[in-house]
Amino acid sequence: MYPVVEINNELLPDSSVAVITDKGKLPDWLVLTKTEKEYLKRCLTDGQDVIAINSYFKLTVVISPGSFKDTDRKYEELRRMASSVIKILQEHKQKDIFIASTGNDDKEVLAFTEGLILSSYRFIKYSGKHNKSSGDTYPTDIFLRGAFSESDVRSLDNICKSVFLARDLVNEPNNMLNAVDFAALLGEKAEASGLRTEVYGKKKIEALRMGGIMAVSRGSIDPPAFIILEWKPEKALNKKPFVLVGKGVMFDTGGINLKPTNYIEDMKSDMAGAAVVASTMMAIAEDRMDVHVIALIPACDNRPGLDAFVPGDIITMYNGKTVEVINTDAEGRLLLADALSFADNYDPSLVISVATLTGSAESAFGNQAIAAMGNTGNKHFNMLDEAGKRVYERIAVMPFFEEYAEYIKSDIAELKNLGNKKAGAITAGKFLEHFTKKPYMHLDIAGCSMADKAEYYRSKGASGTGVRLLTEFFRSMEASMRKQ
Ligand code: BES
Ligand code: MN
Ligand code: ZN
Repeated sequence: MYPVVEINNELLPDSSVAVITDKGKLPDWLVLTKTEKEYLKRCLTDGQDVIAINSYFKLTVVISPGSFKDTDRKYEELRRMASSVIKILQEHKQKDIFIASTGNDDKEVLAFTEGLILSSYRFIKYSGKHNKSSGDTYPTDIFLRGAFSESDVRSLDNICKSVFLARDLVNEPNNMLNAVDFAALLGEKAEASGLRTEVYGKKKIEALRMGGIMAVSRGSIDPPAFIILEWKPEKALNKKPFVLVGKGVMFDTGGINLKPTNYIEDMKSDMAGAAVVASTMMAIAEDRMDVHVIALIPACDNRPGLDAFVPGDIITMYNGKTVEVINTDAEGRLLLADALSFADNYDPSLVISVATLTGSAESAFGNQAIAAMGNTGNKHFNMLDEAGKRVYERIAVMPFFEEYAEYIKSDIAELKNLGNKKAGAITAGKFLEHFTKKPYMHLDIAGCSMADKAEYYRSKGASGTGVRLLTEFFRSMEASMRKQ
C-alpha cells in the first residue's frame, strides 16, 4: 500500500511523531514527561542517532543525523535513517506518522519522508495470503510539518510512485510479463499520466527493417514490441526533443550462447533500462515539466528457440549498417542500436540510453555507481553528475576514446557485436555510438538495477535506480533552460 502524504502543521494527538533534531534541540510542542526528556537527553549526549520512546498511547522517534559538511550527504543520511525508523514503526504497529524538524531546513523533512516511503516498498503480490500481512503495518498516512508548498509534496509523491513502478516492472517475472503485456501496461499507465503513446508490433518492426530487434526476438514465440512514449507540453522550453532509449529485454537467457547457472537467475531484470525510462517519463508528466521528452523502448526476449539467431550471422540494422554477431548474449546493443537510429528521426538535441548492458559495468562499480559515457560534452555530464550526487544515484564517467572503437571492427561486416575481453562497458557504448548522429550519453545500470539484499531504502530485488537520477536531471535541465 502506498502511503498518503500531506502537509499538516497541527500536531496530531494519536499519530506517532518523528522529530529531526538540530543540535539536540526538542520542539516545545513535543509532549513528553520529565523522565522521558531526561532519558532522551542522555541518549543524545551518548551519540545515539535514532531514539524511540514508547509512551503507550504514542510513539516518539527522535532522529539526530549528526553533522555533515556536505548537505547532499546529510539528506542521504536522513533517507537512510528513515529505513531504520520504519522498522520501529512496524514493531509498534504504528501506521501514521507526523514528521517535523527542529532546524530551519524543511528539505530535511522531505528527504526523511522520501526515505520512509522508498523503504516501505515490497513486492508481495505473489507471496500468498499468509506472508502478506507483514506489509500491512507500513505507514498509511504521513503528515509533514513545515513551510512546504503543495507542489513540493506532489513532486516527492510522483517520484516515489515512479520508483515503485520501476521496481514493480523489474520484479515482475518473465512468465507474467512479456513484451506485448509490457507495452500494453505502459500504454495504459502513460496515458493516465497524459503521455502520448504508440506501440509498434512485430509486423511494423519488420516493415521498418529494425534488423537488431528482429534478430534477437527470433528465438522466442513471444513477439517483440517497440514502445514510444511522448511528453510534449505546450510551453516546452526545448525546441528539439530529448530522447530516452531503454533496453527492454524481458528475459535474457543469453540465446544460443546460453547463460550458465549463477549468471542467469536475475535476468528478468534485463528490462530495467526500459522500466527506468518509462517510469521517468511518468514522473516528468505528473510533474508537468516544461520539457519535450520522448522515450523509445525496444522490448523482446532473448531465447535459444528453433529459429534463434546464431553467432556468425550478419544483421542489417535499421540504419543500414551491417553487424556480425559474435555472441548472442551481447543482445542489448542490437536492440538499442535500432532504437537509437530511430531516435534521430526526431532530430533530438540529446539522446540518452539506459540499459543493463554489461557485466563489465557491474564488475567495475558494483551497485554504487552507474557507468556513464558519451560524446555530449561537459555541460550535460556535469549536470548529470550533480543530479546524481543530490539523489545519491551517482555516476562514474568512463573514457570514451575513439581508440576503443577499434575493438568492435569486423572483418566481414561494418561492426561486430563484441570486442575482446577488455573494457566491455566502454566498447558496448562505442558500438551504440555508431547508431546515432546526435549528442549522445549512455548509462549502463547493470550493477545497480538488482540487489541481493536491501540497502537502507533500496529494496531487495529491483531498486529502481536511475529514475530519481534522470528525473532530477530533467528538473535541472528545465531550470537551466528557464534561466536562459
Ligand atoms: N544483460 C546482460 C548484462 C548484465 C550482466 C546485466 C549482469 C545485469 C547483470 C547482457 O546482455 C550480457 O549478457 N552481457 C554479457 C555479454 C557477453 C557475455 C558477450 C556480459 O557483459 O557479460
Ligand atoms: Mn545478454
Ligand atoms: Zn542482456
